[in-house]
Order: sequence, then structure tokens, then C-alpha cells
Amino acid sequence: MASKGPVWYQLYLLGGREAAEAAIDRARTAGVSALVVTIDTAVSGLRERDYRNGMKELTGWNPFAKIPFLPQFLASPRWLTSYLLDGGLRELPNVVIPGQGPMPLTDVATALGQSAITWNDFAWIRKVWSGPMIVKGVLTGDDALRAVDHGAGAVVVSNHGGRQLDHVAASLNALPEVVKAVAGQVEVLMDGGVRRGSDIVKALCLGARAVLIGRAYAYGLGAAGREGVARALEILKADFERTLKLLGCVSVAALDESYVSRNSVSQHWESVTSVGRFTAQ
Ligand SMILES: Cc1cc2nc3c(=O)[nH]c(=O)nc-3n(C[C@H](O)[C@H](O)[C@H](O)COP(=O)(O)O)c2cc1C
Repeated sequence: MASKGPVWYQLYLLGGREAAEAAIDRARTAGVSALVVTIDTAVSGLRERDYRNGMKELTGWNPFAKIPFLPQFLASPRWLTSYLLDGGLRELPNVVIPGQGPMPLTDVATALGQSAITWNDFAWIRKVWSGPMIVKGVLTGDDALRAVDHGAGAVVVSNHGGRQLDHVAASLNALPEVVKAVAGQVEVLMDGGVRRGSDIVKALCLGARAVLIGRAYAYGLGAAGREGVARALEILKADFERTLKLLGCVSVAALDESYVSRNSVSQHWESVTSVGRFTAQ
């Protein structure tokens, strides 16, 4: 099993400021070492697959709305049984609405839309959380500097895995601008699209201190629970090490921009970044 490491708490303002303050309090009591404040989720993105799969109907209260989606359930009886035995649809125990209790999962999209974070919110967040703060969802040098001004000790260059603003820049392409802008004042992390060791290598070459993963671990979780997450991490680690060896790079610290080449596909499209030392040494 993976060893225990520091635990961060990711904050949304779902349920309002009072609920967020209570959540921060509980995170502190639980020994959380850093607060991650996500800034790219003013509303939920347009998740077209959620419409197709009937996410709203299946998680809603109206039993008749579920009827068109029943074949999906009936086709997976084992999954359905274990889902129901496991308690069915969850509440969010980390979002406790004062006077009401944990927020039902069904309310999340509406609550997100009512709870956009602004730079002004950082003043009260800093008052209730004096520990390390990481601002996640930065894609420009200007926003990174603003996050630093508002007390961030690190920023995460993230496009939310491409699940928020359609046609937004790839995190990897936004990374060099952010690294340049913060000029070593704070740590720069990156996420979005990390599926292989070479994705991690590219991010580190372009100045990230580390990467975060979303779906790569979630796929492992879906396939095999806790062991699946450990396996997903092992696969990434092995592939990362393999990539370093294939590059002939002796250490993580030695990774730099000379190991990647950035080619412009056309003047209007995002550039693609490939791994490999193509320039003369
Ligand atoms: C199912 C799912 C739930 C997520 N929930 C959150 C969340 O609650 N807060 C947050 O900051 N990001 C959330 N994200 C975004 C991830 O933290 C991360 O930015 C993104 O998934 C990275 O891209 P990747 O999935 O390609 O690794 C979520 C992503 C997925 C796939």
C-alpha cells in the first residue's frame, strides 16, 4: 500500500461562506497541511456525456424521469446491486449547510452556479486559514501573479482536465508563461491530461515542480477500488522512470527545456509539445 503523505483540502464555496469556514475548521482539525482553492469553476462546464447518460434524471428525485435510462441499470445487475448495497447516491459530507446538513449530490451543479469565487474572497479565506494555500485553475501569468499577491504559496496551472471552458488552452501550453511570470516566487504545479510518464516529463521540463492527476487515478479507482488507485500510481511511476531512461536523463533535477521541442502546428492552433532531445547537445 502507498505510504501516507501530507493531505490537502480542496475548497469550493458551495453552500456559502459559513459552510466553507466550517469545512476549513474541520480540515484543520483533521490535520490537513494545505488548502487548495479552485478558481476555475464559476459554473459547471457543459458535460455533454452527462446529458446523454441521464446524469440529472438518474440523480434527481423524479422517478418517472429515470424510466428512459432503466436499460442502463438492468444491463449491469451486479454493479447496481453493489451500488445500492454501498448506500446509493451520496451526500457531500465535506459541504455541511448550516441548519440543513450535508449537501445532496443532486444540488451540486446549482450550488456551484451560485457560489463563484472572486479575488475578494481571498481576504476572508486568509483570515480563517493561515497555513499554506495553493490556487488551482490558473492559466495565465497575470492570474498567477494575482494569486501570489493574494497569498498563494503555489499555483496549479490547470484547465480542469478540459472539462470547464471549451477551447481553453492546454495546461502544458500555458505552463511556460506562468513559470516565467512567477519567476521562482512560488511553486508551480500542473494538471490536465496526465496519463503517461512522458506527460509528467514534459511538464517538469517546462518548469512544473510536480503534476496532479484527476482521471488517471479515477480510472484505477473505478476498476479496482483502493488497489486500483495504487496500481495507477505504480504504472505512472514506472512509465516516468522508463521515459527518463529512454531520454538518457540521469535525474529528475536534470530535466529541462532542452528535452522537449515545441512545434507550432499552424499559427492559429495550439502548439504541440513532444518529448525527446532533438536539439544538438
Ligand atoms: C470526476 C472528477 C471530479 C473532479 N472534481 C474536482 C473538484 O471537486 N475540485 C477540483 O478542483 N477539481 C476537480 N476535478 C478536476 C481535477 O482536479 C483535475 O483538475 C483534472 O481532472 C485534471 O485533468 P485529468 O483528469 O486529465 O488528469 C475533477 C475531475 C474529475 C474527472
